[in-house]
Amino acid sequence: MQKFPLQDLLPSWASRIRPYPTGKPIEEVERELGHTAIKLASNENPFGPSPKAIEAVRRSLDRVHLYPDSAGYALRKKLAEMHQLEMSRIILGAGSTELIELAARTFLSVEDEGIAPESSFLIYQLAIQETGATLTLVPLRDHGLDLVRIRQAVTPRTKVIFLANPNNPTGTMFTAGELDRFLEGLSAHVLVVLDEAYFDYVERDDYSHSLDYVREGKNVLVLRTFSKVYGLAGMRLGYGMGHPELIESLDRVRTPFNTSRPAQWAALAALEDRDHVARSVEINRRERQFLSEELTLMGVRFTPSVANFLLIDTGRDCEQDFLKLLQEYVIVRPMKVYNFPTSLRVTIGTREDNEIFLEALGRVMATPAPADR
Ligand SMILES: Cc1ncc(COP(=O)(O)O)c(C=O)c1O
Repeated sequence: MQKFPLQDLLPSWASRIRPYPTGKPIEEVERELGHTAIKLASNENPFGPSPKAIEAVRRSLDRVHLYPDSAGYALRKKLAEMHQLEMSRIILGAGSTELIELAARTFLSVEDEGIAPESSFLIYQLAIQETGATLTLVPLRDHGLDLVRIRQAVTPRTKVIFLANPNNPTGTMFTAGELDRFLEGLSAHVLVVLDEAYFDYVERDDYSHSLDYVREGKNVLVLRTFSKVYGLAGMRLGYGMGHPELIESLDRVRTPFNTSRPAQWAALAALEDRDHVARSVEINRRERQFLSEELTLMGVRFTPSVANFLLIDTGRDCEQDFLKLLQEYVIVRPMKVYNFPTSLRVTIGTREDNEIFLEALGRVMATPAPADR
C-alpha cells in the first residue's frame, strides 16, 4: 500500500493532539463481560430525562425527514424567557463541548494563546490545541481553580480562558466574589468562557451570578448543558450566553443544523418539567452525603463536592482499580490523565448504584495494590 502523505497534510499542532479519553461505554463493558453493568463514569443523571422529554422526542420523529430549525428559535426563545435575556444573547450547540470548540475556533489562531486549568475538563486543552494557538496550563490550588495564577498567566497574546465552575473532576467551585475580582480590569482582548455544566447541582448562595455579566455585556461566554441534570447527554444539546456581537460571531462559524430536531424538542420539554430537576438535585444532595459518609467510614479520602460526582483518592494506581471495578461490573473514571494518578471520579448514582459501588470498592481495596506486592 502507498504511504499516506500525512506529514505534508497535517499541521504540526494537530499531530500533537491526544484524543479525548471518554468514559467506557456501558454497551462495550456489557458486551465484553457478558453481564449488565452500572455506569458511574460520565456524570450523567442516573434518573435519565423527564418522561415529558422522551415523549417530545417521540413526537419529533414524525418530522425527522425535515431538517431542524438551524437557529433553534423555539428553544432559544424559551431559554431567553427563563433567563430573562434577549434571544440574540443565546446560541445552541451539540452539547456544550461543541460550543467550547466553537469559541476556540472563532477567536484563536496560531499567533494567540489560550489558557486552561491543568486538571480540568480536557476538552479545553484540545479545543485550544486544535486551533494551533499556544496552550497555557495553570495548575490547581487545593483542588480548586487558581484564579489568581490564571490571571497572572494572561499575556498580550491571550484571547480565550476556560474556567469550569464547578470544576470537573474535583467538584469544587469558585465564588461570585472571586470571579468579580478575576474579571475586574481584565483586558478587553480576553474572552472568559465560564463553563457551568454542573451549575444546577450547586446550592450555595455565594455561587457566581454569571448571567449578570452577560446582561452587562462583559467579555464572558456562559455555557450550560442538557447533559447533566436534564438527563439528556445522549441528545447532545448545550447552550451559550453572551453579548449579542459575541454570539453573532460564534454563529457565523457554527455548523448549520448543529442541533437535531429530537434534541431541540427534548430540551424544550425538559425545561417545562421543573419537578424532575428539583427531584434530581434533591436526591443528588442526599446521595452525595450518603457516599461521603460511607467513604469516610471506609477511610477513603475524597474532595468535598458541590456537583454530582466525587473525586476519591484510594492511594492506589487508579488504572488498576478502574480495571478491578470493571470486573465488578462498575464503570468509573480513572483520573491519571487529569494528573490524579491515585484517584477515581465517581458519578453519584441512585442509592442502589451507590451501594453496589461501595461494596465493589471495598472488595477491590481489600486486594493488594500491585505496588504493595
Ligand atoms: C465541565 C464540563 N463541561 C462540559 C461538559 C460537556 O457536556 P456536554 O455533554 O454538554 O458536551 C462536561 C461533561 O462531562 C463537563 O464535565
